[in-house]
Amino acid sequence: MKVIVTNSYDETCAVIANMIKELVNAKPDAKLGLATGGTPVPIYKKLIEMNKAGEVDFSRVHTVNLDEYCGIPGTHDQSYRYFMDTNLFDHINIDKKNTFVASGMGDFEANARELEEKVREGGAADLQLLGIGHNGHIGFNEPCESFPAAVHPVELTESTIQANSRLFDRVEDVPTRAITMGIGTILKARRILLIAGADKREIVEKALTGPVTPWVPASVLQLHRDVTVITCGE
Ligand code: GLP
Repeated sequence: MKVIVTNSYDETCAVIANMIKELVNAKPDAKLGLATGGTPVPIYKKLIEMNKAGEVDFSRVHTVNLDEYCGIPGTHDQSYRYFMDTNLFDHINIDKKNTFVASGMGDFEANARELEEKVREGGAADLQLLGIGHNGHIGFNEPCESFPAAVHPVELTESTIQANSRLFDRVEDVPTRAITMGIGTILKARRILLIAGADKREIVEKALTGPVTPWVPASVLQLHRDVTVITCGE
């Protein structure tokens, strides 16, 4: 595992945006696993700037997102489909047909199967971007008794609902379920980049140096052969 500690959050995001740019320039049809949450937003802003400046071309790139809330449609402004469109896809030259965010509507089990198929289609992701929740969750894999292998519908914990309620009008509006790549699904990626702001220092340290346990889902990253953790010192 490689750990990069930068001087600022802006630098953290620049480092990651550059890694993604270099990957896509070396492999124009790269498959990217993408994440939502507040943390990656500045990375996506930088990728938009790079794309507009002609430094990186997304026309042949494929993307698959980690997770999606259940019970809200992709047009809802808090859905992860809406997030990806407005924070990235609508502003770069990617073909939207090559972007996949699971549906959170209808038959959740069928939606989970569809996401698992997209993860498999064309082989493993060249890169999976990850944020981390304060309780150590990655995607929406919440602390639990065993690592979930495959894509699955999940009940969100109270702490995740509370943390994510900042983006909703009322806490009651936060979906209580989601569809997420499983831990096994995430570990299939060839390379994993975990980004964390200074507010996540404690949980990142616990996940990277503590025991590997499903009660700290991100701790499983210790077992992957190519993980880079990028965080900042302030
Ligand atoms: C959500 C997402 C995660 C993300 C986490 C942290 O729960 N499902 O993928 O890592 O939020 O979000 P933030 O970056 O806003 O702290």
